[in-house]
Amino acid sequence: MGQSITFHKADKLKPKPDGSKPLGFGKFFTDYMFEMDYSMEEGWHDARIVPYGPISLDPAATIFHYGQEVFEGMKAYRTEDKRILLFRPDKNMERMNQSCARLNIPEIDEQFVIKAIKQLVAIEEKWIPNEPGQSLYIRPFIIGTDPALGVHPSSTYKLLIILSPVGSYFGDSMSPVKIYVEDEYVRAVKGGVGYAKTSGNYAASLKAQTKSEELGFDQVLWLDGVEHKYIEEVGSMNIFFKIDDEVWTPALNGSILPGVTRASVIELLQHWGVTVKEKKISVNKLFKKAEKQQLKEVFGTGTAAVISPVGFLKWNDKVIKVANGKTGKLSQKLYDTLTGIQNGKIKDELHWIQEV
Ligand code: COI
Repeated sequence: MGQSITFHKADKLKPKPDGSKPLGFGKFFTDYMFEMDYSMEEGWHDARIVPYGPISLDPAATIFHYGQEVFEGMKAYRTEDKRILLFRPDKNMERMNQSCARLNIPEIDEQFVIKAIKQLVAIEEKWIPNEPGQSLYIRPFIIGTDPALGVHPSSTYKLLIILSPVGSYFGDSMSPVKIYVEDEYVRAVKGGVGYAKTSGNYAASLKAQTKSEELGFDQVLWLDGVEHKYIEEVGSMNIFFKIDDEVWTPALNGSILPGVTRASVIELLQHWGVTVKEKKISVNKLFKKAEKQQLKEVFGTGTAAVISPVGFLKWNDKVIKVANGKTGKLSQKLYDTLTGIQNGKIKDELHWIQEV
């Protein structure tokens, strides 16, 4: 797959956001996108960067009926000295192939897709915002395109990469969010597709997400799908708890998404000498720890969310106000360090950064 990438120039470029309104998340898209096709005969072929726009698919395409899809979320950052940095793109591509394996999608050449991302980002460099907390979100995804209604894996696919200049996922990046423990619906079960980054997991989350918003919360905290006892993850992030001087996070168990930010936070904390425990955490035990004043901080981690402190947790009629509803010291330190490394302001001691 040492193929070349062709470039199709757009007739006209779009106006870029002028900074008068917050960017929000995933509302603006750049001038170009990357596209590549797969067939049994040719494998992945016809890699091209084309003007961003609608794609044409047969109404019977597998993606529309059986959801055969995987995606990734990554970001490109602009440094003060105008370099462009990517954060651990190798980890995202490794996970994309793990998701492909689960969804019966042919694997990609990870290094080739990283090369494609770098070329696309370099072409779109003027779209990379440079205010604090802003970046260029990169969304690679693969869809099954066979026009056939039998339930079979598609034999043809399309890989696309789109780019979106973004600010924080939640209104204000470091103001603590409110989360609600969902005990009616579940996101995923062991043996299912919970660990894969695939659209169905997010479709399954929407009903509960709507319910949580109606109740005045930002996101849902999911419990395991069998016993409804053990904490898994939050709507768009993994979750961490600071219990006294230790940090706990649910152990990966097949139904939790193995977040790249999750892995990075664990590595960073261990690098700082903090004890991190990846374990089964029951919601009951967590609330008991909170009653005993041992729960010091709660934060979510994700590419979109970065580090998102949690100020309130609700489970049935019990409510915990965490760290007085404020951002805890450790959450702030993790946010500052991660974003510092990503923006090139802090030395990349753990070798996570690749330059475009
Ligand atoms: C990300 O953090 O990149 C995600 O994909 C989470 C969400 C926006 C779906």
